Amino acid sequence: TKIYIPLETTALSLGADEVAKAVFDESTDRDIELEMIRNGSRGLSWLEPLIEVETDKGRVAYGPVTPEQVKGLFEAGFLDGGDHALRLGLTEEIPYLKKQERLTFARVGLIDPLNLEDYRANGGLAGLEKALAMAPADIVREVTDSGLRGRGGAAFPAGIKWNTVLGAEADQKYITCNADEGDSGTFADRLLMEGDPFCLLEGMAIAGLAVGATKGYIYLRSEYPLCHEILNEALQVMRDAGYLGDNINGSGKAFDVEVRKGAGAYICGEETSMLESLEGKKGMVRAKPPLPALEGLFGKPTVVNNVITLASVPWILANGGKAYADFGMGRSRGTMTFQLAGNIRQGGLVEKAFGVTLRDLMEEFGGGTISGRPARAVQVGGPLGAYLPEHQFDLPMDYESFSAEGAMVGHGGIVVFDDTVDMAQQARFAFEFCVAESCGKCTPCRIGSVRGMETMDKVIRGEHAEQNLQLIEDLCEVMEDGSLCAMGGMTPYPVKSAIKYFPDDFRSPKTQAQ
Ligand code: NAI
Ligand code: SF4
Repeated sequence: TKIYIPLETTALSLGADEVAKAVFDESTDRDIELEMIRNGSRGLSWLEPLIEVETDKGRVAYGPVTPEQVKGLFEAGFLDGGDHALRLGLTEEIPYLKKQERLTFARVGLIDPLNLEDYRANGGLAGLEKALAMAPADIVREVTDSGLRGRGGAAFPAGIKWNTVLGAEADQKYITCNADEGDSGTFADRLLMEGDPFCLLEGMAIAGLAVGATKGYIYLRSEYPLCHEILNEALQVMRDAGYLGDNINGSGKAFDVEVRKGAGAYICGEETSMLESLEGKKGMVRAKPPLPALEGLFGKPTVVNNVITLASVPWILANGGKAYADFGMGRSRGTMTFQLAGNIRQGGLVEKAFGVTLRDLMEEFGGGTISGRPARAVQVGGPLGAYLPEHQFDLPMDYESFSAEGAMVGHGGIVVFDDTVDMAQQARFAFEFCVAESCGKCTPCRIGSVRGMETMDKVIRGEHAEQNLQLIEDLCEVMEDGSLCAMGGMTPYPVKSAIKYFPDDFRSPKTQAQ
């Protein structure tokens, strides 16, 4: 019997290793032969550790399992899909999964992350094999036709970015993958890297073939030690199989990847400070232009893409750009990997075509707040994203609809707050976050954030609230117009949305300043 127990950070933090050991011990005691596969997470975080057994009807899921419950599972005959209080039915039929449109995450949780044969049997390597037979400009065209836009947050069309790098003349070009996933409530990059690392590496190799780069770097946040191990093992497996290195699958074309660890600075997720850090320097933002596409890593033309952007590419090459573009709405094509977090009953990853509403995600998938109280505010797009009030919950998730409302989809992080939230404190937190994470290069961000925090404290204390709120509005304008990068430039988003949609919290403060 095949049994799947996730080897993924969330599941591990909830005891997956202890469950695996209990399953092993119990099966040894009972003299039952098992094939235990440590897969990635299906992304149903609230059900972790979620274990699956293969039956003739398909994979049956049980969760969340504790080591103490393992004996009972054996007694219930779970290896044959037997009934038990933890039985969730066929994994693929769990509504949370069934209602998704998993293209990029098709294999995550399904396969053994480090088994290349398993990867290939589930559609892996098809995109790379196609790309090896294509001219670079044709690969770029396929990605352009797909409408894929940067999933790190800025949503710049990937095909246009690649085309700039393809057109640049240079003796060396680079593909860099931004895996410095720093937004609050986000974990899509991590789930992908832990659950299907070959998919990212394949996407990077295709990008290399498309623009003429032979070398790639993954800039990985240091908080993801398991990703570091898994990626390095996956790299070795791909090299040994001839899918990375000097002669990819006998084509004579070369591409290889190295993983570099960051040191814990949010700002190193900004593309130019990431490049500085990759070069071994302090992570300070560089002024643009020049664009990294023309003068990036070590001054050479460089593609900078997020994990999910690159991991979307193998599907696009394998199935065609048009097939990808069939998903989505308006100018937001394909699927987005939304991450439900904060005060939510069913936190986890939802891959859905653009156009799904925030309410659908929160209620149909998320099952409402975990506190059972009404959701009052939702921050979408990380700590620099706007807060949305209840009347905006029906907004379709699409880049343009969101930006028309002064909000952003960003990297797809959705953090839910119930009606006990104090939005004046949240506005203060936005400044506080900027104080902590500013690289310090420009004044509106370095000094503005400190003044913003002090002024917000006065508002919270009820000192000349109206005048101080006006000062905050003015400060936000300066930060938006005068900051060099999105850190200072977007800190006003959460602040202004909090003041606009939750004005009462700033006039009759609920809590005292810290
Ligand atoms: P940007 O709008 O300056 O640039 C977008 C991308 O397009 C960059 O890679 C830029 O180099 C590239 N680009 C622009 N014109 C180009 C051209 N003609 N040819 C080739 N490439 C071109 O945005 P920026 O400052 O890079 O990113 C800001 C975004 O990052 C925010 O919207 C936010 O959502 C997101 N973000 C994501 C975080 C995460 O943890 N994933 C954390 C913080 C912010
Ligand atoms: Fe650095 Fe802030 Fe200026 Fe960005 S806005 S360059 S983080 S000081």
